[in-house]
Amino acid sequence: MNTKFSAPKGVPDYVPPQSAQFVAVRDALLRAADLAGYGHIELPIFEDTGLFARGVGESTDVVSKEMYTFADRGGRSVTLRPEGTAGVMRSVIENGLDRGQLPVKLRYSGPFFRYERPQAGRYRQLQQVGVEAIGIDDPALDAEVIAVADAGFRSLGLSGFRLDITSLGDSTCRPEYREILQQFLLGLDLDEDTKERARINPLRVLDDKRPHVKEMTADAPLMLDHLSDGAKQHFDEVLSHLDRLGVPYTINPRLVRGLDYYTKTTFEFVHEGLGAQSGIGGGGRYDGLMEQLGGQSLSGIGFGIGVDRTVLALAAEAADPAVTGRCDVYGVPMGQPARERMVELLGTLRAAGVRTDMAYGNRGVKGAMKAADKSGAKYALMLGDRDLAEGTIGLKELATGEQRSVSIDDLLNEVSQGRG
Ligand code: HAM
Repeated sequence: MNTKFSAPKGVPDYVPPQSAQFVAVRDALLRAADLAGYGHIELPIFEDTGLFARGVGESTDVVSKEMYTFADRGGRSVTLRPEGTAGVMRSVIENGLDRGQLPVKLRYSGPFFRYERPQAGRYRQLQQVGVEAIGIDDPALDAEVIAVADAGFRSLGLSGFRLDITSLGDSTCRPEYREILQQFLLGLDLDEDTKERARINPLRVLDDKRPHVKEMTADAPLMLDHLSDGAKQHFDEVLSHLDRLGVPYTINPRLVRGLDYYTKTTFEFVHEGLGAQSGIGGGGRYDGLMEQLGGQSLSGIGFGIGVDRTVLALAAEAADPAVTGRCDVYGVPMGQPARERMVELLGTLRAAGVRTDMAYGNRGVKGAMKAADKSGAKYALMLGDRDLAEGTIGLKELATGEQRSVSIDDLLNEVSQGRG
């Protein structure tokens, strides 16, 4: 017996008809970025392992526990990209984009890989749409990036989400705060592992979900109370730009992100209907990343939105982004001469930009009409011997069942009007 294969654990397929929703979500999010002048960047799926270790941070879960790392046949250590920002930065430096007009504004989409425990909304291959705006440290740009994500969600009809935002400070106030927090944490009655975490990355302890740790850290000192004047002014300006843009937000001083490169503005979009995996997107500013990766000392800001989770969020809200069927017209020929003519007509319609399909094979009219309904087309094109003799074709509106006869010469016109 032949072996039947399954997709690897935690790796989703995107098949019709649901894949139409996936595409609609991805494209709407990309479109929101296009409206703000972001150019497309297509990144490698795997990179030198060192890029992520350096860029994302060795002490993060993403790098220390979740990377798909392997030696290629030449013995080099490579890693399937767990996120996009480090790769974008590598590419910007390598291609010298940072020597041109600033900021460099880029958007991307595609699969990312994290060896996480799969569950609803958490996959080992996940899909993101992301943007990065690199080279200018301007609070108005932070606000633009956030507004692009917000507009992307709203263009899909999503509304049950909130934007959490905070500032993680800059190089003048952060080291000092880190020490204050560390001292506070090491004074608590924490287990050895957690103490170790407090020594390596104290902020991460504030993200501990265990109730007794949460209770102990309830009064922990907060970065927002220790911002330098510069960082505070930057944050205040971001907020006032968001007000002007009409983007609602919640200041969440305990917001902790899973990646190490963030400074200043840091944010997360959270959807209430998703249970544990509620983060539908997140991002922030990263002052030191470019330099860390061997480039100039330029700041950047960006976000990554989880396309899979956005699709789930839409389902939770019972919102259907304007997903059109997979074709506009569906041909139902009756008899061999009609079939031959239909093939030709559909070819002409496709050349004019109309999406077509037809009942292939020897299906009866009933089966063909069922297929037409399923296709999501607006019209079924009914063509029989009599039509051929008269130069007409039946245009059946599938939603209403209404049918009228039109001249074949007018078909393109009629169908195009219906599409508008
Ligand atoms: P991130 O928060 O790690 O940020 O991921 C962004 C989004 O990807 C999350 O909010 C979530 O919606 C989705 N996501 C992450 N892991 C999974 C998973 N296992 N399954 C399904 N969805 C997932 C970044 O990746 C940063 N590169 C974002 C960024 C860009 N920051 C600055 N620029």
